[in-house]
Amino acid sequence: MDIKKVAVIGGGTMGNGIAHVFAMNRIPVNLIETKQEFADKAMATIDKNLERMVSKEKISAEDKVTTLDSINATLSIAEGVKDVDLIVEAVPENFDIKKSVWEAVEANAQDHAIFASNTSSISITKLAALTGRPEKFIGMHFFNPVPVMKLVEIVRGLETDDETYNVVEKTSKLLAKVPVPVNDFPGFVSNRVLMPMINEAIFCVHEGVATPENVDEVMKLGMAHPMGPLRLADFIGLDVCLDILNVLYEGFKDPKYRPAPLLVKMVDAGKLGNKTGEGFYNYK
Ligand SMILES: NC(=O)c1ccc[n+]([C@@H]2O[C@H](COP(=O)([O-])OP(=O)(O)OC[C@H]3O[C@@H](n4cnc5c(N)ncnc54)[C@H](O)[C@@H]3O)[C@@H](O)[C@H]2O)c1
Repeated sequence: MDIKKVAVIGGGTMGNGIAHVFAMNRIPVNLIETKQEFADKAMATIDKNLERMVSKEKISAEDKVTTLDSINATLSIAEGVKDVDLIVEAVPENFDIKKSVWEAVEANAQDHAIFASNTSSISITKLAALTGRPEKFIGMHFFNPVPVMKLVEIVRGLETDDETYNVVEKTSKLLAKVPVPVNDFPGFVSNRVLMPMINEAIFCVHEGVATPENVDEVMKLGMAHPMGPLRLADFIGLDVCLDILNVLYEGFKDPKYRPAPLLVKMVDAGKLGNKTGEGFYNYK
């Protein structure tokens, strides 16, 4: 099966980037949002990001027009999913929101359509069980910023079949991404490896081993990381890091994933990183 048209549900940080890459690779998109102002904001972000690519001569001005023309923003899940082959859900990381979205998708999608979630930490198997087609349900875990980052972690739920995996792998390659297969366990591979490193960096600060700047300097200069773990934690959002660590902690029941008390305290204080102007660094 070839994917000829997709729906992307949610046009926030991840959804607008996902719509951007499908449309830029000539796969038309229905982009579904809850309010016109959110849909307009998503389209404005895509426009701005495409314009940056034009100015860097990565795409032509005509490519930009064609890409924007192939994204159709809508406020209706029923309308947006009824004529597509693949649905990629990128609504907030909240099980109840995702549940209501997948129930609406299930009621309106074509029988052959593949369902994919961009969730970072909710079980693909659990989301798949909300639908009548767990064999056609899969994780497509893109990375921020989507038009730039090459990786798509393709997460197989307990019942995902080979055909679904193969179609999604092939489609990811058409987007000029590198698909990497992983199985559905808490944190997949990306967050299971990354979050304990960030957590340990926070313990180092908490225990006075080194300042945030020096922890990051060690990891940049000694391990060739482009960005230190604490700067990265600020960029991801300390609340998001805490949520994912809690998913790992509860999912494995293993104390090695215990969130650092300093992380909990910073989230309680509203110091969430870049988005609030302060985290391990000051952005004000
Ligand atoms: N931000 C990241 O770096 C990142 C990376 C990988 C995966 N993810 C995952 O991607 C998903 C989306 O995250 P995000 O950062 O883009 O969130 P976000 O809050 O930026 O965007 C979510 C969007 O979904 C919209 N939305 C909410 N309910 C909706 C509904 N019922 N129908 C249609 N749209 C709806 C919101 O209006 C919002 O624009 C989450 O599951 C998250 O775990 C995020």
